[in-house]
Amino acid sequence: MDVVIVRDYEEMSDRAAAIVVRAIRQKPDLVLGLATGSTPEGLYQRLIEAHRKDGLDFSRARSFNLDEYVGLAPDHEQSYRRFMNEKLFEHVNIKPENTHVPDGLARGLLRHCAEYEDMIRNAGGIDLQVLGIGRDGHVAFNEPGTSLGSRTHVTALTRETIEDNSRFFDSPDQVPRFAVTLGIGSILEARKCIVLASGAGKADAVRATVEGPITSAVTASALQMHPDTVAIVDEAAAANLERTDFYRWQQENWDRIADKL
Ligand code: GLP
Repeated sequence: MDVVIVRDYEEMSDRAAAIVVRAIRQKPDLVLGLATGSTPEGLYQRLIEAHRKDGLDFSRARSFNLDEYVGLAPDHEQSYRRFMNEKLFEHVNIKPENTHVPDGLARGLLRHCAEYEDMIRNAGGIDLQVLGIGRDGHVAFNEPGTSLGSRTHVTALTRETIEDNSRFFDSPDQVPRFAVTLGIGSILEARKCIVLASGAGKADAVRATVEGPITSAVTASALQMHPDTVAIVDEAAAANLERTDFYRWQQENWDRIADKL
């Protein structure tokens, strides 16, 4: 996994946006894997700016979100579908029918999970997957202990995740207990992944993800097996990493060979 250490949240968002913008320009019908949470919000703001100011064209782009709460309607204030509509989709020219978020109200959730996988496959697979990480090192809603080969599935949320996400609800009681999520095995099939992390609260998770053993106890650590993943982390989130000298050195020297890649 490549690690890029940046100053702060703003620089993390700039770096991530540069990668996504380049990918859309290179492949206008890009299949984007998208994440919710506060971490990618800055990235989405920059994509909106790139659309408004530089005409970044989403008209052929397709998107698949990682996860959705079970039991929340698409227009529920805290549903991930609504988050995506409000934070990105409504502000760019992506076609609504080309955006996909698992349906938390689907009847026959297991069938829905299999269909969601089929839709991704039929779209040609995810070209570029954006990921945040939970404090316990989960990606999407793949909580500790989830099989590293898992496919899209229904999962219970841990108490920690419910607590973390309760800041968006009136109380922890209102946070749904279950979610539909892409599995780790599904995420690993994306051609490229960008993992974003910001703030001291993510420092343990980042260390375990990047330098810890590959373990289902930290599902993000499975990305160490992925051939093309870059972790863009700010200094606070990188605070517990051990090999920072190497990451910085690699970053500084990268430009010298960039034109040969
Ligand atoms: C939730 C989401 C994850 C997200 C994580 C971190 O659990 N399912 O996709 O990465 O929260 O959220 P935040 O970016 O708000 O810290």
